[in-house]
Amino acid sequence: MKKIFITGSTTGLGFLAGNSLLEKGHQVVLHARSEKSAQEAKKKIGKDVPFVIGDVSTLDEIKSVAKQANALGPFDAIIHNVGIYETNAEVVTRDGLRTMFAVNVLTPFVLSTLLARPERMVFLSSGMHQSGEFNMTDPQWEKRLWNYTQAYSDSKLYDLMLTKYFARNWPGTYVNAVDPGWVPTRMGGAGAPDNLMKGAETQIWLAISNDPEALVTGKYFHHKEQRKSNSLADSERNQDELVSYLRKIS
Ligand SMILES: NC(=O)c1ccc[n+]([C@@H]2O[C@H](COP(=O)([O-])OP(=O)(O)OC[C@H]3O[C@@H](n4cnc5c(N)ncnc54)[C@H](OP(=O)(O)O)[C@@H]3O)[C@@H](O)[C@H]2O)c1
Repeated sequence: MKKIFITGSTTGLGFLAGNSLLEKGHQVVLHARSEKSAQEAKKKIGKDVPFVIGDVSTLDEIKSVAKQANALGPFDAIIHNVGIYETNAEVVTRDGLRTMFAVNVLTPFVLSTLLARPERMVFLSSGMHQSGEFNMTDPQWEKRLWNYTQAYSDSKLYDLMLTKYFARNWPGTYVNAVDPGWVPTRMGGAGAPDNLMKGAETQIWLAISNDPEALVTGKYFHHKEQRKSNSLADSERNQDELVSYLRKIS
């Protein structure tokens, strides 16, 4: 039995992964934005599963989530699932950060550095990272005209870069990224063409399986198969630059 922490797990892929791991007999710790949404998720699951609470668009709450999770850990695996597709440029957090950047990029970075180091870590990237751009002069789209599709794609490229950064710097931990496909969650929308359950299977597999194919690090997967990723993520200099920016703002 493994112990797994999944961020953003009250609905969508995080919820599905949590439920499925529970059904397989693993221990999970889930994460909700508020106590109310944790209670609603527990009702759907039908079990009193432990939840950590926090709106991870702000630094204080990201750090509080880390503290609560550490009290319930350590974990064999962490699935950095929380993510948003923010269309509105005006959304800025009380730390002065663009919300999509705070949730999609800063959160998995800060949690990785504050949580006790797990055996495995999985980042949710996206096929859209392929058109992501590495831009450290304006990583949060504060200087350019807001383009939410590009900003989301960039954030998912940054998730892949964090995957490769931690894989390189944490030799004892398997760190990998997943493109779940375009699946019909709240984010994906009802018309999304890919299979929802298949969208959750790869992160579950990477978190618990002893298949030799899952015991690798720094790789990008789609439907349990390694895929070629954007070569911008391979540059160690780019990875280090992103991490030093994230350290600075956190
Ligand atoms: N769906 C797709 O087609 C697709 C494709 C590629 C990649 N992905 C990636 O897969 C991951 C999961 O996506 P999904 O489709 O399952 O999304 P979703 O259905 O919208 O679920 C997102 C989860 O994250 C939580 N969340 C969002 N912002 C939060 C915040 N500030 N604080 C705390 N919790 C927050 C949500 O809670 P609330 O209900 O409280 O908001 C919810 O539990 C994301 O990283 C996404 O980028 C998804």
